[in-house]
Amino acid sequence: MKITSVEDYESKIKKVLITEEEIKAALKKAGEFIDSLYDGRPILLVSVLKGSFVFMADLARQVTVPCEIGFMCVKSYFEGTQSTGSVHIVMDLEQDVSNYHVVVAEDIVDTGRTLRQLVDMFKDKNPLSLHVITLLDKPDRRVVDMKADMSLFVIPDEFVIGYGLDAAEYYRTLPYIAVLSEE
Ligand code: IMP
Repeated sequence: MKITSVEDYESKIKKVLITEEEIKAALKKAGEFIDSLYDGRPILLVSVLKGSFVFMADLARQVTVPCEIGFMCVKSYFEGTQSTGSVHIVMDLEQDVSNYHVVVAEDIVDTGRTLRQLVDMFKDKNPLSLHVITLLDKPDRRVVDMKADMSLFVIPDEFVIGYGLDAAEYYRTLPYIAVLSEE
């Protein structure tokens, strides 16, 4: 995808699917969910870059249990529009997760392949506990039986952008979630 102008950039935003207000309300519930899971125990909140950087920054400010943050950057390999389940770690976490109650913040669970591999990688490192919170869930596309412990929004089978999610690295900075035009 090549963006040549502001008009071109804006014309590819087909429609707003989830507004800023809806995201705010869902974040509050997600923060309460994490607080209730851990009941005052410290956690390590992990952002899986790049897609979850906005989500994790907002989620972290809704959590009241003591919270350390960690970042890892992964690349999922694709065949056409589907991820292959082959996840390459571009940047690993600095923390030793065996010392932590880990909460992974994901951007979207689509086929489920990326999350399956991530969860297996985390489990191999024996965290004290492991939970996954995903911003979006696209269950129609699932090929691996995989579910996050909490999904803020369940969405239809459409390619979405904004609030951290990209199309060819653009649109991550939109404050809402939108559907990408197919043209
Ligand atoms: P998976 O198919 O569940 O393995 O998802 C792999 C990755 O594909 C996600 O972590 C996203 O980065 C990306 N992805 C899947 N669906 C979308 C979408 O609708 N918009 C932007 N990225 C997506």
